Amino acid sequence: MKINSIQRTKSKTVLNRKEFVIEQMEEYRIPTFLHERIGLLLQSSFPDYPINKSYFNQIPSFRYLAWYGDELIGHLGVVYRIISLNGVELRVFGIVDLCVDAAFQSMQIGSNILKQLESLAEISNIDFMILISDAHSFYLEQGFIMVDNPGKWLMIRNSQTLGIAHRKLSDCLMVKPIGTKQWDEGTVDFLGNIF
Ligand SMILES: CC(C)(COP(=O)(O)OP(=O)(O)OC[C@H]1O[C@@H](n2cnc3c(N)ncnc32)[C@H](O)[C@@H]1OP(=O)(O)O)[C@@H](O)C(=O)NCCC(=O)NCCS
Repeated sequence: MKINSIQRTKSKTVLNRKEFVIEQMEEYRIPTFLHERIGLLLQSSFPDYPINKSYFNQIPSFRYLAWYGDELIGHLGVVYRIISLNGVELRVFGIVDLCVDAAFQSMQIGSNILKQLESLAEISNIDFMILISDAHSFYLEQGFIMVDNPGKWLMIRNSQTLGIAHRKLSDCLMVKPIGTKQWDEGTVDFLGNIF
C-alpha cells in the first residue's frame, strides 16, 4: 500500500504489522537530526508542545520510534524511575508523549508500541507502567486502570525548577500493574518531575 493512498483516504485499513517497524533507542544515542524529526511529530500531535524541542520539561530514559519506510509515524518516551507510594518504593516505566501521526492512527500502531514496552517491563522487574493522560478509553483498552491519588512532584517550567507541587491527581493518573504488587491509596511521590 502506498503511503499517499493512506493519507488521502484516511481509511481504517490496518497496516500489516510487517509494514511498520518499531525500534527502541536510548536517549543519549539519538542524533540531533532525529530529535528534530521527533519534535515535529510531537508538535503536530500536541497543540501546546514547545517548538524546536523533542521533550517537554525533561528528557526520557529511552524512546520507541515507529517507522513506515523512512517516515517517522509514532513515538513513545519512557522514563525509568523509582517512585514512592505511601513511602514504599516502586520501580516504574513512566509513559510520556505517546503519539501516532494523524494519517496512521487507528492502525494499532499506538497499541503495538505499548505492547512492546509491556513486554520489556515484564522482563525488567518493573512494578507498574504509569502515565498521566486524558485519552482514558485508549489506555483502558490497553489494560490500564484509573487511580485517584494525591501526588507530589518537582515542578519544572521553561527550564526552571519552580518548587514542589502537592495536588490530587484526579481523572488523569493511570497505572498498569506488571508484577504482583497492588496499587494502593495514598500519596504518590514522583521523586522528580511528573511524567
Ligand atoms: C492516542 C493515540 C496514540 C492512539 O494511537 P493509534 O495508533 O491511533 O491507536 P490504536 O490504533 O492502537 O487504537 C485506536 C483506538 O484507540 C482509541 N483512541 C484513539 N485515540 C484516542 C484518544 N485521543 N482518546 C481516547 N481513545 C482514543 C480508540 O478506541 C481507537 O479505536 P478506533 O480507531 O476504532 O476509534 C493516537 O490517537 C494519537 O497520537 N493521538 C494524539 C496524541 C494523543 O492524544 N496522545 C494521547 C496519549 S498522551
